[in-house]
Amino acid sequence: MAETAPQSETETPTEETPAPADLPIAPGPDGVPVLGSTLALFRDPIEFMEVASTHGDVVSYRVAGQRFTAVLHPDYVEQVLVRDHDRFRRWTGDERASVFGDYAQEGLVLSEGEQWQRQRQLLQRAFTPEKIEGYVEKMASEAESRVADWSDGQRLDLQSEMSSLTLRLLCRTLFDLDIDERGDAVARAATALNARAGSVLSFFPAWLPTPTNRRLHDAMGDLEAVCADLIAERQAGATERDDLLSLLLAARADGAEMSEREIVDQLVTFLFAGHETTALALTYACHALGHHPERFRRLREEVESVTGGDPPTLRDLPELDYTEQVVKETLRLYPPAYAVFREATEDVAVGGYRVPEGTKVSVPQVRVHRDARFYDDPRTFRPERWADGFEQRLPDYAYFPFGGGPRHCIGMRFAMMELKTVLPTVAAAVEFDPVTDENLAFETGITLQPADPVETRVRR
Ligand code: HEM
Repeated sequence: MAETAPQSETETPTEETPAPADLPIAPGPDGVPVLGSTLALFRDPIEFMEVASTHGDVVSYRVAGQRFTAVLHPDYVEQVLVRDHDRFRRWTGDERASVFGDYAQEGLVLSEGEQWQRQRQLLQRAFTPEKIEGYVEKMASEAESRVADWSDGQRLDLQSEMSSLTLRLLCRTLFDLDIDERGDAVARAATALNARAGSVLSFFPAWLPTPTNRRLHDAMGDLEAVCADLIAERQAGATERDDLLSLLLAARADGAEMSEREIVDQLVTFLFAGHETTALALTYACHALGHHPERFRRLREEVESVTGGDPPTLRDLPELDYTEQVVKETLRLYPPAYAVFREATEDVAVGGYRVPEGTKVSVPQVRVHRDARFYDDPRTFRPERWADGFEQRLPDYAYFPFGGGPRHCIGMRFAMMELKTVLPTVAAAVEFDPVTDENLAFETGITLQPADPVETRVRR
């Protein structure tokens, strides 16, 4: 049983924090012997964090023999991600057992130190506001053609529909590429990565010959081959392009240290990080709107009055206030990145507790976004809560779907633009008749996965 220290619901960190060595370890759920909280966490991550929060705002638990500390108050979220970011490095699994298996190690998500800085600086150029704004038309046209394929009364698996849409859209915008015949390789790799990350296996090396690991190696092998082909095709092509792949290849041509491996890993990283998350957001948004017809109607009325029912243009986007509220509420209630993880690189004091060097630190959006201290009726989908400057009144880091600090999501603007373009396009064309119950069960993967297919019927 961990020692406890005073910790009230309203406690905030003070300037004069005692030395970490003098502080106790945070309290938390005991879990079962040997396994600790492993089963409870993998069974239901949202419920687990809710129960954990009854121990306070800084909570210790054990998963697969490793000590974790979760920070559940916005002040501590800010401390870990922003103020003390240099004392916590990103954690995605042990060196011997990353959630990514052994893949994408040199991509932006997993790179560290000087290599990460160099990559981030370069890649940032593909995500400037001007660049992103130039993508709106392609985003809308991808959404329009996907929706046109849906027939009246058709039963859809939302996640699979939205994944193919967001993957095509990502490839058209960032890679100037039609991915049709190669999309399957990406989808299989995404499924295999999530299957590994969502099981306790992610704490064991990826070379163990389990069925999950074998599927991962097969799928990632295929995906790496697809990426190598894309690079070769681009190098052989005569046309000058202005996209992310060209940026990487041009950087190498200019003498930047960028190996073939680094470029492949970057493609794997962006193909995964750039479509899975937005597909989940659209899945959850359509699911929630299907269960809230009055909110769906309001969204549609807004689209009709702003765009006349056409897909939105760049000029329309600032006027789509309610659409933005729907997007924000979706990312609050169903944050596709359900938690970000760090590892303490030294002993650190957080909220009156000691977080010893080497502790894995979980910063769970899935809990903080559902905290009744900051959100009324936190489990209800209520986009209107975001009206009238609600976000400005929230404490910083009570809402952080894209993380925070130097490693915040590089695709944030891209994702917001995509969601604000696709949703109105969908809403203008169809209505939803949900098949799946409103209350979803979730699984952890790398992202917040629905435990069962999220299905709906569409009415044109
Ligand atoms: C709704 C959509 C999205 C959500 C909720 C999301 C969430 C996040 C979060 C929370 C992080 C930070 C992880 C951490 O601090 O450890 C992150 C990082 C990242 N995201 Fe996103 N993301 C989304 C869309 C995208 C898109 C569209 C792209 C690319 C086109 C992208 C690419 C990345 C990359 C490469 C990183 C690593 C950045 C770095 O370490 O420098 N994401 N994302």
